[in-house]
Amino acid sequence: MRIDVVSIFPEYLAALDLSLIGKARREGLLELNVHDLRDYTFDKHRTVDDTPYGGGAGMVMKPEPWAAALRRIATESPLDAAGPVKPTLIVPSPAGAVFDQAMAYELAEHEHISFACGRYEGIDERVLEFAQEHFDVRPVSIGDYVLNGGEVAVLAMVEAIGRLIPGVVGNPESLVEESHSDGLLEYPVYTKPAEWEGHEVPEVLLSGNHGKITRFRRNEQLKRTAERRPDLIVKLDPATFNRHDRDT
Ligand code: ADE
Repeated sequence: MRIDVVSIFPEYLAALDLSLIGKARREGLLELNVHDLRDYTFDKHRTVDDTPYGGGAGMVMKPEPWAAALRRIATESPLDAAGPVKPTLIVPSPAGAVFDQAMAYELAEHEHISFACGRYEGIDERVLEFAQEHFDVRPVSIGDYVLNGGEVAVLAMVEAIGRLIPGVVGNPESLVEESHSDGLLEYPVYTKPAEWEGHEVPEVLLSGNHGKITRFRRNEQLKRTAERRPDLIVKLDPATFNRHDRDT
């Protein structure tokens, strides 16, 4: 997979050199290119913003540098520009569709994704219109709160998407059992020692009885989800509950 990120703070994305995503890049499973938007300016001051038409607080990102950066990325896209599939451009924004695990799985199938990180009061809206000629443009939010810019949202999304690329997470089994993979939160985990500071590991986990352990973990998932995220329980397909779940 190829990912391109455009930002006025490319240093923010340095964390994507670390850990599993950094390793995936070094192993060639993920090609990640970070572009400094100021490299696509044409004036001495490398200006990327200007005052908003209609007045109001703050500054708006100018269209010209964005057009130059996005045109270059579209030209270099591994997807044939004339082909039926356009590369995807994600525009992080609190006004976008909410990113979740299902979206991460869907995006992990893409060959080429780009991210356009806005700052200030946002990017001139015409950039999104322009970008539609070259990309499938998707404004995406990572939650109902406001960040100072798109970079932190990109860190979260690239990590969530990148770890789903085959080979990035060493043991693919761990993707199956984690939170949100089956619509439920994950069960609690414990390691040695069996008793620590007066706190004990649940007895059943020491029993070696795999049937009982599976049942215990499933019950913990259901309890946790009902307590912490009742909205997720409501969304579950009733067919996913088994006979024993109903007794929980
Ligand atoms: N930019 C500012 N806030 C954001 C959010 N919640 N999600 C994505 N991008 C953002």
